[in-house]
Amino acid sequence: MSNVIIAPSILSSDFSRLGDEIEAVERAGADWIHIDVMDGHFVPNITFGPPVIKAVRNRTDKIFDCHLMIEPCDPYLGAFAEAGCDIITVHAEATTHLDRSLQAIKQLGKKAGVSLNPSTPENVIEYVLDRLDLILLMTVNPGFGGQDFIHSVVDKTARVKQMIGNRPIDIEIDGGVTAETAPLVTAAGANVLVAGSAIFKDGSQENYAANIQAIRDAC
Ligand code: DX5
Ligand code: ZN
Repeated sequence: MSNVIIAPSILSSDFSRLGDEIEAVERAGADWIHIDVMDGHFVPNITFGPPVIKAVRNRTDKIFDCHLMIEPCDPYLGAFAEAGCDIITVHAEATTHLDRSLQAIKQLGKKAGVSLNPSTPENVIEYVLDRLDLILLMTVNPGFGGQDFIHSVVDKTARVKQMIGNRPIDIEIDGGVTAETAPLVTAAGANVLVAGSAIFKDGSQENYAANIQAIRDAC
């Protein structure tokens, strides 16, 4: 796929210089900036929240693609919108009223996404497709970078692609994306690839462009 969107996950960046890391991946060819928010409750890890996102918002004009791994999510949607997130993705497993959460994101003027854990069947999104701008399929269990890609999600990606038909919905893959796994999911219909370790792996900013290009070339 020639127009694949690459979204580096800042989870794997050097948090002590987060703004510089965002500028570095933009220079290296990132399309979106993927922002992983974890609460230590829905997932077994804690990252950061709206104040940190707001602090780095002025470092780039790239789309802030915010992946909320928090439960509940509804009370915080306004704060993430205000912090400058462009796409706000909630987990179907983390909200009782998924349709309401998606409506709330749209009412804030943001693009709405839903994420599914590897074990969550895709039929949970069947009745909200018309509200969605993005579907994020987890190819690892959320919580940590650097885990192995779960191959059963490749078939799921193809099924989701079929489900959405002609709707203009992005299909994003998150977890264990490398130059080896990326072509499996783009062939199945994904058009947005999140990558943390594969881009930030050795912390050398001079390698980020090559790391991004390797994923692009593989697709
Ligand atoms: C995991 C996060 C991912 C993670 C991906 O919960 O949602 O975005 O940073 O990291 P890698 O690419 O290292 O699997
Ligand atoms: Zn993520």
